Amino acid sequence: ERKESIYIDPIKLVGKDLLDLTKNIKRLLGSGHPLLDTVSEYYFSSEGKHIRPLIVLLMSQATSIAPKQCNAAHTEYFQIIDKPLSSSTSSFDVPNNKVTASTLYYPSFSSTGTIILPTQRRLAEIIEMIHTASLFHDDVIDGSETRRNNPSANISFGNKMAILAGDFLLAKASVALARLRNPEVTELLATVIANLVEGEFMQLKNVSSKGTSNTMTTFEYYMEKTYMKTASLIAKSCRAASVLGGSTQEVTEIAYTYGRNIGLAFQLIDDMLDFVVSSKELGKPAGADLKLGLATAPVLYAWEEYPELGPLIKRKFSQEGDEKKARELVYQSKGIEQTKLLAASHCQTAINAILKLPESDARNALIQLSQTVLTRKK
Ligand code: FPP
Ligand code: MG
Ligand code: MG
Repeated sequence: ERKESIYIDPIKLVGKDLLDLTKNIKRLLGSGHPLLDTVSEYYFSSEGKHIRPLIVLLMSQATSIAPKQCNAAHTEYFQIIDKPLSSSTSSFDVPNNKVTASTLYYPSFSSTGTIILPTQRRLAEIIEMIHTASLFHDDVIDGSETRRNNPSANISFGNKMAILAGDFLLAKASVALARLRNPEVTELLATVIANLVEGEFMQLKNVSSKGTSNTMTTFEYYMEKTYMKTASLIAKSCRAASVLGGSTQEVTEIAYTYGRNIGLAFQLIDDMLDFVVSSKELGKPAGADLKLGLATAPVLYAWEEYPELGPLIKRKFSQEGDEKKARELVYQSKGIEQTKLLAASHCQTAINAILKLPESDARNALIQLSQTVLTRKK
């Protein structure tokens, strides 16, 4: 019963909403402290891929024509989220909490009848803010010097300002999240933030101790870490988008399954690109993972073919020549190919899930996107 899906350019469907994304995020920031503003906005001024918001907006459209829970109320959504967030006071600091008519936040209707709600657009902004907050902190932890072809925030402004900017973004994202007035969505995204920290922690712990727990194989541990640091955000924001649209339980599960598997594939490809693409092409340091002592999928697969990689992994490639040796063995092995195959199988799982939604341009674009995730070069 599977129909051949026609090629749909995802950007064509939600390009307008994506164009507004950065502008809207900057409206959500603003502290009254010019330097804090400059640093917080820093990563929004370079060209990000915006893959997470893109997925959320398409998922919003794709689920808008899927079964809904009865009494899914939409009108209230148009109100409170549009109040400015730019001061450091909350809406409850203002005595007469009057809601003004919204001009910016109206739903966008596509020609094929799918809808993006204002809350769903705000969700896309919130998750890009959370993601960016994690990049500020990640670049400090990794000691990275470049991001999106520019000096990283920690290089431009120092570690202290970079950390504070990440915290500030997270705080502003939390206020915007609270404004959605949806406890389920709040819980989902709060859990995402915890998962990001857990993922980063697992990665650090992985390098600095024995590597695996008693119950998990190294590869299982790596996949769990990958879910925590990358897939959880995409999975739970897909779920949140469909919750905001009033979808049935079944539809929110489909959204989650798609996001989870696309997220896993995305990070697997990220870990593969670290081996096959140059820093110039990536816009950030390439070959970084071995330098950081990290054994990602390509190395773990290569280890199956070349057991002599074991001790190098264990000592985090810390001895003279370890990094070079490990890199050579990865290139000699099927590790890179196998990583891509695993990513492709997660993409297929994502496609199988999304095919359960009614046919729409947005659904086809989400299928198309899984292909882009596999073939991307940066
Ligand atoms: C990029 O990974 C980093 C992440 C996906 C998550 C980082 C999470 C934290 C630093 C925990 C703190 C979280 C928050 C919300 C403040 P990478 O280093 O593999 O990718 P890169 O090559 O892009 O640097
Ligand atoms: Mg990093
Ligand atoms: Mg990192």
